[in-house]
Amino acid sequence: MSDEVLISERIGAVERLTINRPAALNALNASVLAALKAAFERIARDDAIRAIVLTGAGEKSFVAGADIKEMATIGPLEAEALARSAKRVHDAIIHCPKPVIAAINGFALGGGFELALVCDIRIAADDARFGLPEVKLAVLPGGGGIMRLSRLVGPSVARALCLTGDMISAERAFQLGIVSELVAHDKLDEHALKKAEALAALSPVALAQIKSALEIGANADLESALAAEAKAFALCFAAADQKEGMAAFIEKRPARFTGR
Ligand code: CAA
Repeated sequence: MSDEVLISERIGAVERLTINRPAALNALNASVLAALKAAFERIARDDAIRAIVLTGAGEKSFVAGADIKEMATIGPLEAEALARSAKRVHDAIIHCPKPVIAAINGFALGGGFELALVCDIRIAADDARFGLPEVKLAVLPGGGGIMRLSRLVGPSVARALCLTGDMISAERAFQLGIVSELVAHDKLDEHALKKAEALAALSPVALAQIKSALEIGANADLESALAAEAKAFALCFAAADQKEGMAAFIEKRPARFTGR
């Protein structure tokens, strides 16, 4: 295995990013955070990449949280800098105009759960586990875990998970809508890649506009969100992809989207 903390592989138009610290269950240290931010910024600029799979190395863990060994002796200013650098990674994923699939191959805990929550599609292995165990370390999920989980599953379940630090099964995460699909552990890589390839064949223009509308909508009142959605819809008609998509439908042939 490579000694890079983040392995990037290009498979057709899909970029697979594997967080590679299996001996630490892929905990997020400063090097991983820097590598993730750089990777998503690079991917955002590269037209040849049309979908991303983010996963963790090894059999056991997606990401078991922020690196506790790196965090154990820091003070409040360094903790704030750590939260800011996690947020920069989250922003790079949210504002990346391409769809990002989290292929959750094991523990998604603390900052690892938070990382999965900013991805567009979450697919989990059936033996994955989810949790926000920060309370057990006498801290709290400081990278969006409290707020994003509350918005995703509602305050009742989010409160229970944050306050107890208890883990939940992949099946429970699926029931709660935290993940959209469950797959047998040994089929996860293949399934996530297939899903990413299907996304890569869609119009990059439409995908980027959908991501943008979802993000605006998540932070706006309904009227403003609906206006943003209508504008995003209208903008698609500026692209050749829209003409191609509709012509292909009418001519009963597969569409070939270029992102133009
Ligand atoms: N940071 C650093 N190292 C970690 C780690 C983490 N978050 N999680 C696991 N590791 C390391 C362990 O220290 C261990 O290393 P050594 O072999 O050198 O001792 C190795 O990974 C394997 O871990 P375990 O032996 O503990 O494996 P296990 O199967 O017995 O337990 C586990 C697995 C339940 C996930 C357990 O490792 C665990 O509880 N990890 C910590 C989870 C956690 O609390 N995450 C939240 C971190 S705080 C955070 O993320 C803050 C934030 O939101 C901003």
